[in-house]
Amino acid sequence: MDNIYPIFDRMQSREQKERQLRQRGVTLWFTGLSGSGKSTVAIALEHRLSRQGYIVQILDGDNIRSGISSDLTFSAADREQNIRRVAHISRLYNHTGIITLCCLLSPTQQLRNMARQIIGSSDFIEVYISTPLSVCEQRDIKGLYAQARRGEIADFTGISAPFEPPQSAQITIDTTQRSAESCAEHIYNSIRERIKGGFIN
Ligand code: ADX
Repeated sequence: MDNIYPIFDRMQSREQKERQLRQRGVTLWFTGLSGSGKSTVAIALEHRLSRQGYIVQILDGDNIRSGISSDLTFSAADREQNIRRVAHISRLYNHTGIITLCCLLSPTQQLRNMARQIIGSSDFIEVYISTPLSVCEQRDIKGLYAQARRGEIADFTGISAPFEPPQSAQITIDTTQRSAESCAEHIYNSIRERIKGGFIN
C-alpha cells in the first residue's frame, strides 16, 4: 500500500536514533505487588545503566498517576486505561532508542498481554518482582495495606483486588533477602547483550 502520509518518510528512523545514542531501545516491564520493590530496583538499575552510559527513562505508576493518569481510579477499566497509556508512551521512547523501565502493578495477565502487544514482543521484557504479599504487607511503606485491611481503600491489589502472578516472565526476582543493587546487577547481566549498540561508526 502506498504511504498516504509522505511526511513520515522525512522523519529520522529509529535506527538512526539508536546509532546516535549507541544503544537499543527496549522496555523492561516491572510487575508485582505494591511494596514489592519494583521502583526501588528500577532506580538501582537506572543508576547501573547510567554508569555504563545508557539513557534510561523510568515510568512509575505513582508518578504517572499524579500526572498523565490523574483522572483514573483503580477500577479494572481505569487500570486498563492506565496501562494502555504507559505502554504507548514506552513505545515512543523505545522508538527514540531509549530504554524504559515501566513500574506498574499491572495485576492481570490480560493487562500485561495488552502492554506486550502495544510495545511489540521483541521490545518487551517482563520482569516479575515476586516478593510475597506477606513481606509487602509487613513493609507497608506507604501505609496502604493497613488502610486496605481497615476497608478504607477499595479494590486494593492483593487484598480486595486480584493479582495474577505472571506465568512466563523473562526475569523473576524476590527482593525479600536481596539488595536493590544485587537485583539490578542480575537484571543488567540478563539484558546487556540486548541493549548494546554494537554500532560501527
Ligand atoms: S495499576 O494497577 O494501574 O498498574 P499502578 O502501578 O498505576 O497500578 O499504581 C499502583 C500504586 O497506586 C500502588 O503502588 C499504590 O501506591 C497506589 N494505590 C492506591 N490505591 C490502590 C489500589 N486500590 N490498588 C493498588 N494500588 C493502589
